[in-house]
Amino acid sequence: MKNILVSGGAGFIGSAFVRHMVTTYPEYNIVCYDKLTYAGNIDNLLPVSDEENYRFERGDVADRAAVERVLNRYAIDAIVNFAAESHVDRSILAPDAFIHTDVVGAYILLDEGRKHGIERFCQVSTDEVYGDIEEGLSGEDDRFLPNSPYAASKAGGELMVRAYHVTFGMDTVITRGSNTYGPYQYPEKLIPFFATEALDDRPLPVYGDGKQIRDWLYVDDHARGVDRILHAGKSGEAYNLAGENQRRNLEVTRRILQLLGKPESLIRHVPDREGHDRRYAMTAEKARALGWRREFEFDRGLEATVNWYVDNEWWWRKIKTGEYLEFYQRQYAGRLASSS
Ligand code: NAD
Ligand code: DAU
Repeated sequence: MKNILVSGGAGFIGSAFVRHMVTTYPEYNIVCYDKLTYAGNIDNLLPVSDEENYRFERGDVADRAAVERVLNRYAIDAIVNFAAESHVDRSILAPDAFIHTDVVGAYILLDEGRKHGIERFCQVSTDEVYGDIEEGLSGEDDRFLPNSPYAASKAGGELMVRAYHVTFGMDTVITRGSNTYGPYQYPEKLIPFFATEALDDRPLPVYGDGKQIRDWLYVDDHARGVDRILHAGKSGEAYNLAGENQRRNLEVTRRILQLLGKPESLIRHVPDREGHDRRYAMTAEKARALGWRREFEFDRGLEATVNWYVDNEWWWRKIKTGEYLEFYQRQYAGRLASSS
């Protein structure tokens, strides 16, 4: 593998992966292919924009002709697919784009990748494919029980990857990451949303009782995990990338407020997300056997993250305008009006 296409590389985790790959492997050419949706942000790639082994191409993963062009132009050897619609709340409001990108897009990349004869296809997936897990840890062979349109679309993308491996013998690997946090995350997701809202003394809408559990993984650990699986994963296999940092949402919210010196009176309990999964948790044994382990403890990672949002208003203030405010209105206005 020398020429690597990173689709969705202008998003939160994809850009961390691009920054990591460009600097760790100067012998590779890293081509970022991204549609630049509301969540894609070229600012995320500024740290590597002048590097010789980095290129950016704007395009849609579901656009077959454009995908074919980029594979040929850069003689791509491997595809790492981060491209997705990624926010559960948006998938409840409007699922169409999720099917387009997460299912059809994954299929087009696979199909064009196969025709082009790539060496390896790496699909970046999520712990949400396992669905709600009340106790214990999800293992890679557990059944899929996705509950949101987002989770179902990611499961659909993964199943197509499996089918291309079994049917056509394509070399594929899949990663299933847990809830990821860190710098450059679009401020619709819990941690950057609450940190930036609290900085402006605005209410923090906690869904339901706030006792839901997520397993938090620092973004650089996630990026290194995908690198490890891309290089060492066994063809046809899936690997959990678990943060092993399980926390209740309320605990995370209180910690963000503490770090910012803001009062807990900003917390509002609002009507719950529809179909809200109570808990995700996975075992990390299989990826650990390949030499990957997460480095960041949650307390250290959260402090670094909150400090990054304090120091980088230039990055997030311009995002919290226009389309963002329309989404905020649709998602939260009614909920906050009936909050406690
Ligand atoms: P993100 O929303 O920040 O970024 C998604 C990127 O994909 C954006 O740059 C966007 O412009 C691009 N994109 C969207 N539709 C596209 C299309 N049709 N064609 C080309 N590019 C398109 O998402 P993220 O949080 O960085 O997640 C990246 C991947 O990791 C996703 O596949 C997601 O399912 C998975 N994942 C995310 C998390 C998490 O906690 N954020 C955890 C596990 C797995
Ligand atoms: O588990 C991996 C998944 O993590 C990824 O596949 C998704 O792409 C990513 O968005 C994330 O999904 P979640 O739904 O878990 O993340 P989110 O940040 O939206 O919410 C985290 C928890 O916080 C969840 O229980 C819902 C809750 N929450 C979230 C928001 C945005 C609130 O209580 N209030 C909010 O306003």
